[in-house]
Amino acid sequence: MPDDLRSPGPLDAFRRILGPNGILTAESDLEPYLADWRGLYRGRAMALLRPASTEEVSACVRLCAEQGITIIPQGGNTSMVGGATPEAKPNQVILSLARMNRVREIDTADMTMTVEAGLILQKAQQVAADHGTLFPLSLGAEGSAMIGGLLSTNAGGNTTVRYGNARELMLGLEVVLPDGGVINGLRRLRKDNTGYALRHLFVGAEGTLGIITAAVLRLFPAAKETATALCAVPSEDAALALFRRFRAADEGAVRAFEYMSGIGMGLVMDNIEGATLPVAPGFEHFVLVDLSASREGAGLRNLLEQVLEAAMEAGEVLDAALAESEAQRAAIWRLREEHPEAQKRAGASVKNDVSVPVSSVPELIRRSSAELVKLIPGSRPVPFGHMGDGNIHMNLEQPPEMPAADFLARAHDIMDCVNAIVRELGGSFSAEHGVGRLKTDMMEAWRGGAELAAMQAIKAALDPKGIMNPGKVLP
Ligand code: FAD
Ligand code: MLT
Ligand code: ZN
Repeated sequence: MPDDLRSPGPLDAFRRILGPNGILTAESDLEPYLADWRGLYRGRAMALLRPASTEEVSACVRLCAEQGITIIPQGGNTSMVGGATPEAKPNQVILSLARMNRVREIDTADMTMTVEAGLILQKAQQVAADHGTLFPLSLGAEGSAMIGGLLSTNAGGNTTVRYGNARELMLGLEVVLPDGGVINGLRRLRKDNTGYALRHLFVGAEGTLGIITAAVLRLFPAAKETATALCAVPSEDAALALFRRFRAADEGAVRAFEYMSGIGMGLVMDNIEGATLPVAPGFEHFVLVDLSASREGAGLRNLLEQVLEAAMEAGEVLDAALAESEAQRAAIWRLREEHPEAQKRAGASVKNDVSVPVSSVPELIRRSSAELVKLIPGSRPVPFGHMGDGNIHMNLEQPPEMPAADFLARAHDIMDCVNAIVRELGGSFSAEHGVGRLKTDMMEAWRGGAELAAMQAIKAALDPKGIMNPGKVLP
C-alpha cells in the first residue's frame, strides 16, 4: 500500500468536510482521473475530492496547506498538456470541480451569467441559448470541458477570431487561494480599475495559483442568421487570401475561419464513422468559413456567395459546399471538430499548438511540413486549426510502419523543429493549450529572464508552500 494511504488521518478529515459522496479513494474509482486525454501521463493520488460548495473547497485547501498535501485541480480533464493529472508522487489529492456545476444567476439585462467552475461548456451554451442569448466559447471538447478548466487554460477555440479567448469572456471570478482564503470577485462590471486585476492572474494560471470556483461570464446576442461553407483552396496562401476577402467584406460577420489539410481530412474520412466530404475528393487544403449575425436579414448567404464567387474567379477557391440546413452546417463542423479524435485513432501523434502573426500562417505551415518530413521520413504533417487567430495545430502523425514508441521518443525533436520556425516568425510555442506539464522545459528558453522571474515571484507570494498543481507551468 502506498505510504500516503497508510494513515487515515487526512482522509478522515476530508470525509468530515465533504461527506461520504464528496470523496473517492478506491483505486478503481480514481482510475479515470489519474491519466490525461492524450494518454501521455499517469500519476497517483490518495483521493479525489469532490466539493459541492466554495466553503468546502476552502476547507479542503486549508487542510491541505496545514498537512503539506498538494492539490491538482481538475475540470473535464481534457488538457492537451497534462495539466490536470497528478504526478507519480505521494501526498497528493485531485480536487474535482464537477459537483460545483450550478448556474447561480443569469442576467439578460446586463448580459452576464454567473456560473460555478464545474459547469460543462455545452451546458453553459445551452443555458445562454435558453435565455435568448449566446455564450460564444466553442471547441471540440465542449461536451466535457468545464468553465473553471477553460478559464484556467484561457482556452481559445473556434470563435476567438470574433469573441476573443476565455479571458475576454470573463468579468469576475471567485477564487480559493492556496491558504484557503476566498477572493469574492464575482463583480459584473465592464469597467473596474481598482488596483491589480487579480482576476486575470488566475486565467491561464492552470491551477498553479488557486482554485477558480465561480465566474461571471459575458453574454452576447444570439445569432439570428448564419452562413457556413467548406471550401477547397489551392494553397495556404489562397486560404489566407480568402480570410482577407471575408474580413474586407464584413469583418464583424466572421465567426470562425478554420484551416484543414488534405491529410487531416483523410484521417477524418478514414477514422470517423459517418464523415462525408461535401466537395470533390483529392484536394490538399480546406477552409471552413462560418458567418453569423445577431439580426435577421443581414444577407449573410449573399455575402458568402459573393465572396466565394470572386475568390473562385481569382483562382483562390477550387470548390465549395454551402450549408443548406442546420444539419449540413453541423456535418461540415463535424469534419473540423473530429480532427483530434481522428488523429488519436489513426496512431501516435505529436501536437504543436503554436501561433504566429496571421500573415505568417502560410509560411509556418509550408516550412514546418517540409522540415518535419525531412526529420521523420514517412511521417504525415497534419496542420489544422484557427487560421483567423494565427493559431495552427502543427501536428505530426506517425509513419504507418514506425512503432508508436519510436515515433514518440522523437517528440522533443519534433517540437523543437516546429518551434525553431515559430521563433523565427515571432510566434509562441503554446497558443491556447497552455504549458501544463508537457512544456515546462520550454519556459526558460521562451520566457526566461525577468518574465519568468516575475512569474516565479508571483507563485512564491501566493503559494509559498508550493501545494497548488506542482510540476505544471513553471520549470
Ligand atoms: P482540465 O483539463 O481539467 O484542466 C486544465 C487545467 O486547468 C489544469 O492545469 C487544471 O489543473 C486546471 N484547472 C481545471 N479546473 C480548474 C479550476 N476550477 N481552478 C483552477 N485550475 C483549474 N483548447 C483550446 O483552447 N482550444 C481548442 O480548440 C481545444 N480543443 C480541444 C479539443 C479536444 C478534443 C480536447 C480533448 C481538448 C481541446 N482543448 C482545446 C484543450 C483544453 O485546454 C480545453 O478542452 C479546456 O480548456 C480544458 O478544460 P477542462 O475542464 O477539461 O480542464
Ligand atoms: C482543436 O482545435 O481541435 C485542438 O485544440 C487541437 C488539437 O487536437 O491539437
Ligand atoms: Zn485548437
